[in-house]
Amino acid sequence: MNLDFSQIVPYIPFMLEGIWVTLKFVFFAIIFGFILGTILALFKINHVRPLRWFADAYTSIFRGTPLILQLMIIYFAVPQLTGYDITPFLSAILAFGLNSSAYVSEIIRAGINAVDRGQTEAAIALGIPYRQRMTDIILPQAMKNILPALMNEFITLTKESALVSTIGYLDLMRRAQVVGADLYRNFEPLLFVGVLYWLMVMGLTIIGRLLERRMSVSD
Ligand code: ARG
Repeated sequence: MNLDFSQIVPYIPFMLEGIWVTLKFVFFAIIFGFILGTILALFKINHVRPLRWFADAYTSIFRGTPLILQLMIIYFAVPQLTGYDITPFLSAILAFGLNSSAYVSEIIRAGINAVDRGQTEAAIALGIPYRQRMTDIILPQAMKNILPALMNEFITLTKESALVSTIGYLDLMRRAQVVGADLYRNFEPLLFVGVLYWLMVMGLTIIGRLLERRMSVSD
């Protein structure tokens, strides 16, 4: 047994900083993915066919190829076409947001379909226009039902964020590797950031529970 946690002590601030670095882009990716996912979901239930085709093709592509590939295309390949370099931070938000929106759109579509048809019929009978029907009646009810599934997606995204270590972004995962290389000991730093990831996911889980409780007040 060769374990010595005292050796990682000087590196702890460096690794803790990774939490912030990781959370920063995950936060923006979640918001971006959620907004785009909602728009795609509305496309998927729209009666205009090309919109449905577009949203379905989008999901098929972004769900059908590895996230790490999408990340590498955005970070390494796109600059080849445009001539502009893109920062790892921006590539990460783009890749994770675009990828997540494919999953989110399916979750929201299912949520909208699960809202009783009578709600839509009643709203139409009352002459409520499409936009208001969606934002005030259908989407709020859908959101409540799909909250656990959405939280699942956000948790997945938080953990998958470790992929950015492959494009040289100094996130939590990359920091563990750096410390491991410095110390010639990998177990301690990897275990340490493992606990940090777990804590982040626990935080998200708690936020999800609180939101769920709040939303069920009206029941
Ligand atoms: N590792 C999977 C991939 O590379 C996960 C994709 C992300 N999943 C998600 N729910 N956003 O495709």
